[in-house]
Amino acid sequence: MKEKNSETHGEIIPDSGPQGEDGVLVELRNAGKSYGNIRALHGVSLQVRPNQVTCVLGDNGAGKSTLIKIISGLHQHTEGEFLVDGAPVRFASPRDALDKGIATVYQDLATVPLMPVWRNFFLGSEMTKGPWPVRRLDIERMKKTADHELREMGIVLDDLEQPIGTLSGGQRQCVAIARAVYFGARVLILDEPTAALGVKQSGVVLKYIAAARDRGLGVIFITHNPHHAYMVGDHFSVLRLGTMELSASRAQVSLEELTNHMAGGAELAALKHELSQVSGVDVEGLPEKEDLTAPLAAGGPEGKA
Ligand SMILES: Nc1ncnc2c1ncn2[C@@H]1O[C@H](COP(=O)(O)OP(=O)(O)OP(=O)(O)O)[C@@H](O)[C@H]1O
Ligand SMILES: [Mg+2]
Repeated sequence: MKEKNSETHGEIIPDSGPQGEDGVLVELRNAGKSYGNIRALHGVSLQVRPNQVTCVLGDNGAGKSTLIKIISGLHQHTEGEFLVDGAPVRFASPRDALDKGIATVYQDLATVPLMPVWRNFFLGSEMTKGPWPVRRLDIERMKKTADHELREMGIVLDDLEQPIGTLSGGQRQCVAIARAVYFGARVLILDEPTAALGVKQSGVVLKYIAAARDRGLGVIFITHNPHHAYMVGDHFSVLRLGTMELSASRAQVSLEELTNHMAGGAELAALKHELSQVSGVDVEGLPEKEDLTAPLAAGGPEGKA
């Protein structure tokens, strides 16, 4: 890490636009979470703005899921602040988050595989018609709306009657994204939506992440993959051992720097000299320490707590 940044330890310098609440949908300020004695996350600051994709990257166990669980109302933060529309909040359940327009698409999507696509689109929020004792599902309207909404997002499926289980993983993610948009999400959290997908399907999901952003949503995109992040991201936050080791806007970090950070570049750079003494280990491709210092590299290797 560059010395001149060391005083930014655990605190992220704002990087885009005038500092202030204008337009910020969701914000974490020095937030953290402990599970009993385990401090899974601490000193994390993050801003989510409309029309932007905020990427959260990090290795296994870095704290990505913990971070989104706080924002999606599954867990409560134990340190720092969590604000929605500039006001401090503490959600008791995911319902509270949804009421604020924060929707989460989990990797193991909550769909019913044997039910048709349109039915899954409305799962739990079915349209009905008729007065009370004879109220029934408004199937025609649900089909039409699902079809319209999917097309709006540019998702073309041959047949909405097909069971959702017959769609590819990527297509199912896309339906979930369109659904969140339709039900009024302002913030859309995607937990590793491309992790289990091949190249082509990942591309499709990335396209709809961009589509959701273009509809004005603030998207939080969790991923291991710096290439995927860089294709759609406006802002990048890298977590390591529960702390934020990088927070940078697109203009401030290159794909190469992001990749180095994700590859555990700091550790590898430190090892480069040692490894170069070992025969049969090619260290040419490893990053130099200097390569790793993006403008806003915040915080050093603190993280043990
Ligand atoms: N419910 C829990 N109780 C205790 N410790 C937990 C709990 N959930 C997470 N942790 C710990 O917190 C740390 C961060 O976990 P988290 O699941 O947030 O990481 P992650 O970045 O999502 O990892 P992955 O890429 O594997 O999904 C880990 O050390 C984990 O063991
Ligand atoms: Mg996780």
